[in-house]
Amino acid sequence: VRPRRITVSLREYEEGAVRFYASDLDELERLGLAYTKARVFYNPHMRSNRDVAVAVASWLGEGVRAADVMAASGVRALRLAAEAGATVVANDRNPLAYHAIRMGIRRNGLESSVDAWLMDANLASLALREGGGVDYLDVDPFGTPSPYLWAAVRAVRPGGILALTATDTPVLYGVYPRKLRRVYFARGTKAEFHKEAGLRILAAYAARVAAVYDLAARPVLAHATRHYARVYLRIDRGALRASEILDRELGWTSYCPRCGWRSVHASEPPAEEGSCPECGSRLSWVGPMWVGDLQDGEAVEAIAAILRKGNHSSREALQIIETIRGEVGLPPLYYDLDALASRSRLPSPSPKATVEALRSLGYGASLTHYEKKSIKTDAPIGELIRVIRDLAGGAR
Ligand SMILES: C[S@@+](CC[C@H](N)C(=O)[O-])C[C@H]1O[C@@H](n2cnc3c(N)ncnc32)[C@H](O)[C@@H]1O
Repeated sequence: VRPRRITVSLREYEEGAVRFYASDLDELERLGLAYTKARVFYNPHMRSNRDVAVAVASWLGEGVRAADVMAASGVRALRLAAEAGATVVANDRNPLAYHAIRMGIRRNGLESSVDAWLMDANLASLALREGGGVDYLDVDPFGTPSPYLWAAVRAVRPGGILALTATDTPVLYGVYPRKLRRVYFARGTKAEFHKEAGLRILAAYAARVAAVYDLAARPVLAHATRHYARVYLRIDRGALRASEILDRELGWTSYCPRCGWRSVHASEPPAEEGSCPECGSRLSWVGPMWVGDLQDGEAVEAIAAILRKGNHSSREALQIIETIRGEVGLPPLYYDLDALASRSRLPSPSPKATVEALRSLGYGASLTHYEKKSIKTDAPIGELIRVIRDLAGGAR
């Protein structure tokens, strides 16, 4: 039998402090193939995602043990080693990716700090756990991280971070409620605050999976950017802590699709959906979702400082973290100003002017990283609409 020859063209890329190998994106484009069809995957648009990941790993301190159980080209793992000084396992089940990772390790002289593994992500997580666990674990799949969480939560040492990317955003954002139920055991609808609801559903799901193993998972940083949702959770041991999270931090949101009114509850939804106190329409319930703080103020400040100081942080990463700084401490679920204004037949206000007006009335308010035309505030919805009306009056 003549051996079958397979030719794969890889290209050398540079990102952050490293050079690495992945499928040639220009060639794919010439062939009319999407970048998702790459034999060795690399998405340059996820750079800011990796910039933040490197900052989070750096924030954990010196001598961090890290892993990317779905490493593809290995760019993330190589950066974690080169920029955050971590010792890293870069795993992928695709043999071509495995070889590309090995080439990347040699190219950067990272033989002593990065190890390439070739196996299923769940097996890799369990093997990491058997080896004493890691301080930082990245789960970065195509689509949902849900099937990988059960092994991943157990591979993180106490005090460590589990980082999750989800690209099945239409599911998390409530466009496909039946699939949301199957994949995340959650109920949802596409609400005006769908991106934040999706992040909160993902965080709650991770917390519930962790609780199965008497682990407490708590988000420290979360962002919804481009086509993905990203949550960083700190994992700690303890049945009591895990139960407290389920009791206090998880809950449901009742939402009126007609007028946009919403209310967040740290409890189960009632048997009857109920009606909106503002307009009387039937309410939708979204959850279980994380109803506590999605962003840990101290962590966000420290990670922002690292990103600002870093030589390799993209503008997008800095922008994400700086905007999130403003969101810290404000209640769940942003307001979509276009939707609110159009419902009241008012022109859509400037988000910046709206935030300033709310603050001058003594409310907390901020722009958000979710949508350009959205804000967060602790003002009641009626007050916000009054502000939008006043701004429209001033504009006339
Ligand atoms: C989105 S890419 C990862 C990108 C990479 N983390 C980065 O930052 O560039 C997903 C990778 O997961 C790999 N993969 C998919 N399912 C897997 C599984 N069950 N076990 C291990 N690897 C898997 C694919 O081969 C692909 O390389």
